[in-house]
Amino acid sequence: MTTVLLGVSGGIAAYKAAEIVRALQKRDYDVRVVMTSNAAQFVSPLTFAALSHHEALVDEFDCPGDPIPHITLGQGCDLFLIAPATANVVAKLAAGIADDLLTSTALACTAPVMVAPAMNVHMYEKAAVQENLATLRRRGITVLDAASGYQACGDTGPGRLPEPEQIAAVVEEHFHRQDALPSWTGKKVVITAGPTVEPIDAVRFVSNYSSGKMGYALAAEAARRGADVALVSGPVTLKAPEGVQLVPVKTAREMLAACEEAFVAADVFIASAAVADFRPESPSDSKIKKGSSQEGQLSYVRLVENPDILAAMGAKKRPGQRVVGFAAETDNVVGYGQQKLASKHADMIVANQVGENKGFGADDNQAFLITENNVEELPLMAKQQLASVILDRIEQF
Ligand code: PMT
Repeated sequence: MTTVLLGVSGGIAAYKAAEIVRALQKRDYDVRVVMTSNAAQFVSPLTFAALSHHEALVDEFDCPGDPIPHITLGQGCDLFLIAPATANVVAKLAAGIADDLLTSTALACTAPVMVAPAMNVHMYEKAAVQENLATLRRRGITVLDAASGYQACGDTGPGRLPEPEQIAAVVEEHFHRQDALPSWTGKKVVITAGPTVEPIDAVRFVSNYSSGKMGYALAAEAARRGADVALVSGPVTLKAPEGVQLVPVKTAREMLAACEEAFVAADVFIASAAVADFRPESPSDSKIKKGSSQEGQLSYVRLVENPDILAAMGAKKRPGQRVVGFAAETDNVVGYGQQKLASKHADMIVANQVGENKGFGADDNQAFLITENNVEELPLMAKQQLASVILDRIEQF
């Protein structure tokens, strides 16, 4: 049975949460409730326990038999719906604050999160609240628009909790959309990620700032859709997503060898790695000592060009195989992206601007999806969300 965890925070609209429980149950969802202590001032946990047939939890330290309820709740649901979400809870979610059971559960949650804000119109319209809601949206959290109308405090305007039936319908649509995700079962996907490191000597190397976040998000999304995923990754600190075969490599030439082997059976190849374009020509096996080696030995390091992995895969692409590359540019993002689409024989280039706090290492990314006849500009979004859009577009080729 699909489980919806309902998070209730402390606003007058908390009374409507009881109806949300019923509206979700009507649609055959198992509903569990976690509340803030302020919400418990408006509606008793007993009301939710009676309706949901599960204890409604409020206090992290008052859950007999479960010493870590935020983990149990956050990882035991298929969706975490926070309705109503007060301005305070929205701010805590945006800041990653986890100072009660509801917010700790949100931080520990591995399921999609949906937030229905409800508050006074003047609070709702404050820049701080709107920016916090935008932050949540950017991170892939679904934020419902508040309804507009007469409010309990006497004001009129946006900030009301949408009707319980409307909220339940959005939840139902969410699960339908998930069921309707194009299935990649049986598809073999090869993804490159992270940087490559090119040794100068036994302890020094040439590399770049890639964290692997973009490539790992793509691998996680492809695996979630049922694909058989090989993730050819340079050295990063990330854990390989569940169900993904990790092929760890260090240098561009190792990455090329791994890709050549995996590409033979691949349906889709996505090159998101930041491959070092150059490598030191003759790396030393031992540490080059300062001052002890030939004069000027480290005053220059002769670099030679690395193989272009994407171009190599593009050149040997079979009919039906899809090849997608990235373009990391500091300027003329679309123009250079279009050039790379042609020169590397790719079906699509994801062109993103890189620079300080952009692209490399960031959680969010803003990209242009470039195909032969189209340039699609996407807004700034979480890399997980961008990964999903990229796979949706590949599905449409
Ligand atoms: O890892 P993150 O911190 O999340 O950062 C993500 C990212 C910025 C690294 C990613 O979004 C990105 O832009 N990846 C491509 C980086 C890059 O090397 O771009 P490029 O424009 O230099 O290369 C163009 C394409 O050719 C890329 O698909 C690249 O993987 C590929 N390439 C480049 C050189 C080379 N020798 N072999 C290649 O396969």
